[in-house]
Amino acid sequence: MAIYLNLKNGYDKNLLKEASNYIKEGKLVLFPTETVYGIGADGLNEIAVRNIFVAKNRAADNPLILHVSSMDMIKRIVEDINPLERTLINSFFPGPLTLILKRKNIVPNVVTANLDTVGVRMPENQIARDLIELSDTPIAAPSANISGRPSGTNIEDIFEELKDKVDYIIDGGDTKIGLESTVVRVINDEIHILRPGKITYDELRKYGKVVVSNHILKEVEKNDVVLSPGMKYKHYAPNSKCVLIYSDDKTKMINKMKELEDENTLVITNDNNVKEFKNATGYGKTLEEISHNIFRILRSVDKQNKKLIIIEGVKTSGLGLAIMNRLIRACSHNYIEL
Ligand code: TXA
Ligand code: MG
Repeated sequence: MAIYLNLKNGYDKNLLKEASNYIKEGKLVLFPTETVYGIGADGLNEIAVRNIFVAKNRAADNPLILHVSSMDMIKRIVEDINPLERTLINSFFPGPLTLILKRKNIVPNVVTANLDTVGVRMPENQIARDLIELSDTPIAAPSANISGRPSGTNIEDIFEELKDKVDYIIDGGDTKIGLESTVVRVINDEIHILRPGKITYDELRKYGKVVVSNHILKEVEKNDVVLSPGMKYKHYAPNSKCVLIYSDDKTKMINKMKELEDENTLVITNDNNVKEFKNATGYGKTLEEISHNIFRILRSVDKQNKKLIIIEGVKTSGLGLAIMNRLIRACSHNYIEL
């Protein structure tokens, strides 16, 4: 069973010394970021990184992000950064953006799944950044969940699932954003969004042409070229069967949801619409609230043991694109758009 450090009621950098020693010794440390919790290990220690894959039961061809705390650390792990990449670093680091860059050989193959690129992110969360700095190494960290399950946004949700899989748990309370970082790659001077997140299309558009990968809302077919291996895998799914419903016409959408509802279903919907249904949970009112709450709610539905979970979709603009990307996959592409 892991050591547990509670930083919910007060934080001092010195408290992280023990956890950083765990990282240096090649152990696994569960830690908060502003997006979701991560399962961290020394990103330059091949054996430690291998243990992350074991802990999560993660496919070996799905690469990990290296989390850094300084520009110097970025230079240790990546080759030549081009001007657009540099602009993105200057504009969005630290923050919820992961940039895919050309890696140096110092980065073990197991981190990048043998790709010649590596995902780099500088978290904004102070605990995360201090942990990296004290560990004095880039920390490889996927989202904290067993592969396929919703990502962890608070320790309560993932404690049972991960307490025997990691060596150290840092509890920093609820994560601020609740959805994982936006993953982007610069190709021929265009910014490709490989996974949408808090940093939106419109924010990136200020810096150049933006291309949205067509796997964000569509299922990956057998012979598709996939720029981000993670898109191939099942993710965010509750154990119960789910269906996602969306229409720009709210009445139409709610009627369709009502049509599917019975004693054995649970509806997940906007707080404003909860009263329309027999058995419903509200996921918030604004896109920010929905992003913050959605993984906790997707995890909680399994306790209700329902035959079907009916989820209200949102418009795919702004943060809505990231929310719909997660919801469509939570529903295994069982999506009805009216
Ligand atoms: O917010 C986040 O990004 C969280 C926190 C912990 O930082 N991390 C996270 O990691 O979501 P993970 O491993 O669950 O998702 C990383 C995604 C995967 O879809 C993976 O395929 C993609 O990034 N990725 C990583 N390295 C890549 C690379 N070199 N090329 C393309 N995609 C990459
Ligand atoms: Mg993940």
